[in-house]
Parts: sequence; structure tokens; C-alpha cells
Amino acid sequence: MDARPIGVFDSGLGGLTCVKKLMEVLPGEDIIYLGDTGRVPYGGRSRETIIKYARQDIAFLRGFDIKAVVVACGTVSTNGLEEIAGDYPIPVMGVADAAAEAAVSATKNGRIGLIGTKASIRSHAYDEKILARMPNAAIFKAACPLFVPLVEEGRIDPEDPVLNLVAEGYLQELKKENVDTLIMGCTHYPLIARTLSRIMGPEVRLIDPGAVTAERLRRELEAGDALREGGRGSRSYYVTDSAEDFSRTASLFLNSHIEGSVRQITLEGASQ
Ligand code: DGL
Repeated sequence: MDARPIGVFDSGLGGLTCVKKLMEVLPGEDIIYLGDTGRVPYGGRSRETIIKYARQDIAFLRGFDIKAVVVACGTVSTNGLEEIAGDYPIPVMGVADAAAEAAVSATKNGRIGLIGTKASIRSHAYDEKILARMPNAAIFKAACPLFVPLVEEGRIDPEDPVLNLVAEGYLQELKKENVDTLIMGCTHYPLIARTLSRIMGPEVRLIDPGAVTAERLRRELEAGDALREGGRGSRSYYVTDSAEDFSRTASLFLNSHIEGSVRQITLEGASQ
């Protein structure tokens, strides 16, 4: 057993989709979450900047003597993560690989849709991971850059007219491709899953990258005899902008008051 906490980070609220699942499948683990809300979104930035931010995020979390890092951000997971993960003495797990694996096992017709930030779509990382497992898969993609700011603004209600208008526009072409599986390639998107599902249709299976990664982490901790079981772990949240704003939207998503402390911090080496 390894009693050290698990560190999780994202540019903002999106990583909570992973935390929600982690609390379910690993209830005994202490979780330390970092949302870099002062610099969200990452998805329109260059690969170099994304890598620099990721290193600063990981450095902050490592200050807590964690046993693993979950990169609950599709953008970081697809932009250089594999290059930097080996620099750390603990596992650094992105969300793209487990999501690609889940999509390949879910699809029946081999037609997979992928939505994500501009940086994730530009990277081709999801394509490589899917094609390595299913060489004849057909992948249809759309970058949806406005989804992250909408979610961060709390516009996640399926009745929200702005959200619906934007989502209809982004998914219009994808809808024609007869995909049976859609990877929500950015961890913010499961917060608007009901809207995405309504537009794509009930037969399209949605893959939540944070959730499938939480399950993978459980399997890996189990295999490494590092699982902390029994009792209820603590949760601490750190953000780089207003703690109040984060708590308000986070509660909307978690459907309850956020459990654990939320503190605003400044990341070392970060110029906001
Ligand atoms: N949740 C991040 C992702 O999965 C958000 C990206 C962003 O900050 O643009 O890609």
C-alpha cells in the first residue's frame, strides 16, 4: 500500500470529470487537484507553451509528495506529454490513451468521432493511438474551441441557448459521418455531455477520457500494490484564479457543494 496522495491537474474545471470518477473508483485515496484557471484555456496555445505550463503544474503537485500524476487535460495529454513524462520518478498518466482504447472497444462500425481543443486536434495524437489499435478505423474530427470558455462560464445547462447554438454548429459535419462512437477529447466536454448526446443521437456512444483514465489508474495501482483502501480520502483543490468562481461552477457540475478546501495559489515561474 502506498498512502501518498494522487495529484490531478487541468487548465480549469474539466479535470473534475476525472476527479468525480476517481472518488467513485478510488474512494480511499487522497486527491490533490490543480486547476490552472488563471491561464485557461490551454487549447489555443502552442505546443511549447503547453509543455511549459504542464511542467509548472506537475512541479506544484509534486510539492505534496504524491505517488502519481493524472494529467486530466486532453490538450496536455496530446501535446508533448509523452516527451516529458519520463523526466519524473512517479507515473504521469495522460487521458488520451485510455480514451482511444475505450473508443476502439466501443465502436461496432469502426467510425469514430473526435472532438477536442484546437491543439489536441492539430496534434494527431488521438489518431495515432486509435490507428495503432484499429488500423482500418475511420476518424472524423472537429475542433470546438468555444466549449471550454462556455463550461468555465458555467453554461452547461442542456437548455442553454448559446451552448446549443455553438454545439449544433460544431457537430453539424460530424453528424453526417455515421459515427457510432464520439470521444469527448477534452475533459471539459463531459460537463456538456447531455447536449452533445442530444445532437449526435442516443445511438452514439460518448467516451469520457477522465472517467476511463480513472479506471485505468485503479487497475495500475492495484497491480503495483499501491492502492489505498478503506476509509474516505481527503480532497484539496488549488486554483490560480478566484477560488469562489471555481467552487460555484464546480458545485454545479458535482451536483453538491465541493467537498474539501479550495485555495488560490500562484505557480512558481508562471507569468499570468
Ligand atoms: N480540459 C482541457 C482539455 O482536456 C481544456 C483545454 C483548454 O484549456 O483549452 O483539453
